[in-house]
Amino acid sequence: MRLHDRVAIVTGAAQGIGAATALRLAEEGAHLAICDLNQQGLAQVADQVQALGRRVLALEGSVADRAFVQDMVRQTQERLGGLDILVNNAGIVRDVIGHKMSEEQWDQVIDVNLKGVFNCLQACMIPMREQGSGAIVNLSSVSRYGVAGQFNYAAAKGGVASLTAAAAKELGSKGVRVNAVAPGSIDTEMLMTMPQAKREMLQKLVIPLGRLGQPREVANVILFLVSDEASYVNGQTINVCGGAYTRI
Ligand SMILES: NC(=O)c1ccc[n+]([C@@H]2O[C@H](COP(=O)([O-])OP(=O)(O)OC[C@H]3O[C@@H](n4cnc5c(N)ncnc54)[C@H](O)[C@@H]3O)[C@@H](O)[C@H]2O)c1
Repeated sequence: MRLHDRVAIVTGAAQGIGAATALRLAEEGAHLAICDLNQQGLAQVADQVQALGRRVLALEGSVADRAFVQDMVRQTQERLGGLDILVNNAGIVRDVIGHKMSEEQWDQVIDVNLKGVFNCLQACMIPMREQGSGAIVNLSSVSRYGVAGQFNYAAAKGGVASLTAAAAKELGSKGVRVNAVAPGSIDTEMLMTMPQAKREMLQKLVIPLGRLGQPREVANVILFLVSDEASYVNGQTINVCGGAYTRI
């Protein structure tokens, strides 16, 4: 097992890529602290992690709430006995054409997708620096190259890639690696906000592999990045997009 007895936090783990990642890390031996706003989904994933024989801590709350995040990190250390891995996965979309985007739509996405990543990264890097080890993966997106209707999301995900590079420079010498994955079009609830006709066109005309990605295919790359196999990979944003660098 690649993560035997390591302790990982995965945010936004009630469904989609976060749930797949929590389960993939648990399959490889990690104990999990998972958080989400969706308590019901979280409980289901917690049961699955436990069924794999791992310890699990399921916490309902928002990554945008700094007090919640600090408490999550404290509880993880106290109740799971350490902290080795952080996967900053929680994210939302509020897509709307630029001239109609409200301040609220802008703020909501930046708060969760960018500030939420900063909150968790900062809270986890403090103990990781002290212990001289750790691995962090942030979720960016190919939307960082620019997608119409996504001023807020593209800016946040571009920010995540830059934050990843900056954090990797600060933390590398402390034994902590920081990387990002940038999914393309992955078959989760988030993508269901896109009309079906558009999703079909995307698969036929835009994605070289001719299909959407599955959450587990992203989780596999995250697993690699947090494992010792990626010991010399630091500060990178890795596209997991079937070869398509754009959306329509
Ligand atoms: N699905 C895609 O095509 C795609 C593409 C590129 C990037 N991503 C990124 O991957 C990540 C996971 O996306 P997904 O497709 O699994 O989405 P999803 O909507 O299926 O799951 C996101 C999860 O995050 C949770 N969440 C939302 N706001 C939160 C908050 N403030 N605090 C804690 N949890 C919160 C949601 O409740 C949900 O369980 C996101 O960061 C997303 O931006 C997804």
